[in-house]
Amino acid sequence: MPGEPGRPEREPPVRVLSGIQPTGRFHWGNYFGAIRQYIDLQTAGEAFYFIADLHALTTVREPARLRELVRAAAVDLVALGLDPARATLFVQSDVPEVTELTWLLMTVCPMGLLERCHAYKDKKSRGLPADAGLFTYPVLMAADILAYDATLVPVGEDQVQHIEVCRDLAGAFNHLYGHVFTLPAPRLVAGGAKVPGTDGHKMSKSYDNTIEVFEEPAAQKRKIMRITTDSRPMEQPKDPRGDHLFELFALVAPEAERRRMAELYRRGGFGYGEVKKALVESASAFFAAARARRAELEADPARIEALLADGAERARRQAGAVLERARDACGLTRGATRARRR
Ligand code: TYM
Repeated sequence: MPGEPGRPEREPPVRVLSGIQPTGRFHWGNYFGAIRQYIDLQTAGEAFYFIADLHALTTVREPARLRELVRAAAVDLVALGLDPARATLFVQSDVPEVTELTWLLMTVCPMGLLERCHAYKDKKSRGLPADAGLFTYPVLMAADILAYDATLVPVGEDQVQHIEVCRDLAGAFNHLYGHVFTLPAPRLVAGGAKVPGTDGHKMSKSYDNTIEVFEEPAAQKRKIMRITTDSRPMEQPKDPRGDHLFELFALVAPEAERRRMAELYRRGGFGYGEVKKALVESASAFFAAARARRAELEADPARIEALLADGAERARRQAGAVLERARDACGLTRGATRARRR
């Protein structure tokens, strides 16, 4: 009931936050699952987006490559429409408050919760060595979200489990120490939450089945022409639903084209080669403007550096306030330390 003591009178304002790893160049899964939502939501409320370089350290071990991937990620995000005047764009490691918050959350995190997380489980089941960074990865991700009082986290389906972990940790901390953290909710988009790769499985760098957003056109064409298809005869009518080649086409084709292609599938009498050629053309048209913006941004590296520095400053201010709240709540601050930290 509004006005009841102890209850907030209004819903908290919308605060959007998401992060993306610079472990390679962005692919269509990243774009249609997440980045496109970042752009749509940058006007929905305050928005924070970051390049998750600390998370990337669990896979990228060459310093020069990591630096270059972080820079390229910032250029790509702006080229794709992220507007630094509307949203705060920053690099995760520029906000050390988040790593301190990670420790506080680690102290309320049961081991079993992390053992159930799929990124760790997948790697283990494939016999790959897993380090503590990979194991505790969801705790850092929880700190990323909670440090900004985020209410909405636009992601693809594969990140939903991590947001549930975040909610569990926030709930556990709040239960022990009073209301400190805001509980976030994931936001998925219909049709983009699980973009298929060239082999029909989820598009992912680790499965080597990606189509990159800014790939060289010739290389992109070769990949598209090699997309796996079934061997049903040309004349046989086919259901476009569940066909990964069609799903990829539907992401980049204009509505009328999509309908025409669905009709062609249902009628039969066409070859997958035709669909692939149409996909190459639609993809090129869909990303043409972003490609042009990217080329302009590449010519002005100081601009990207300046906007990341500005973003880091804004992000630190916000994360610092939340960290202080958490430190206070669990007894890490005394009058004297509090004064020193300010
Ligand atoms: P990452 O870098 O693997 O992926 C970035 C975003 O792309 C989405 N995505 C997909 N969506 C649909 N279909 C696909 N095939 C596909 N592949 C990737 C992911 O769901 C994600 O939204 N742990 C995160 C990064 C992160 C983060 C955070 C995200 C760190 N801290 C805080 C949100 C909030 C990750 O590895 O995403």
